[in-house]
Amino acid sequence: MIQQLSLIAALDAANGIGKDNDLMWNLPADMRFFKETTKGHVVIMGRKNYDSIPEKYRPLAGRTNVVLSRKTNFDAPDCMVFDSFENCVASLELAPGQKAFIIGGAEIYKLALESGLVHEMFLTHIDKIYGADTFFPDFNAALYHKELIFNQVIDEKHEAAFAAYRYELS
Ligand SMILES: NC(=O)c1ccc[n+]([C@@H]2O[C@H](COP(=O)([O-])OP(=O)(O)OC[C@H]3O[C@@H](n4cnc5c(N)ncnc54)[C@H](OP(=O)(O)O)[C@@H]3O)[C@@H](O)[C@H]2O)c1
Repeated sequence: MIQQLSLIAALDAANGIGKDNDLMWNLPADMRFFKETTKGHVVIMGRKNYDSIPEKYRPLAGRTNVVLSRKTNFDAPDCMVFDSFENCVASLELAPGQKAFIIGGAEIYKLALESGLVHEMFLTHIDKIYGADTFFPDFNAALYHKELIFNQVIDEKHEAAFAAYRYELS
């Protein structure tokens, strides 16, 4: 059983996280941050997020991949599939030092935040509005202590500046 959850997301300046079931940016330093932060851990995603990952990158390497879907017998090769958030949290067992990361999308972020189990969030805030159709859920930032992890400026590989923070429930 999972007692607490970590969460990781990248948000544009309007809290947008995706459009047409895809990401809206290509920011290699944030992709690297996502990979390094979640490496060796469990990643929990919604079926739409799973579908949006190019087949050659699924399952996400070096991590235990978990997909939530209400479809019966949803086939996600080399992933664990659960038909409810509650079953997922009740059934998963973590190895010592292992975390369970909620990696989206919006529906799954909302379920996790409403569960009260999210004790830390890694949020990348991007200084640009991309015109999303999917948004990170509202949350009470006053409940969290926020610490800057790194800043990225605009350069030849990054069309937008961003800052990555760790939020910890205080
Ligand atoms: N910027 C970021 O950090 C980030 C991260 C991840 C994703 N995204 C973006 O977010 C978008 C996708 O988000 P989304 O909100 O549309 O979809 P999602 O959260 O990825 O997936 C929704 C699906 O999850 C399943 N689901 C939801 N609640 C469930 C429950 N209680 N029990 C079991 N299964 C459940 C359902 O699958 P079935 O329909 O199969 O039943 C539902 O259709 C994409 O644009 C993606 O690129 C952005």
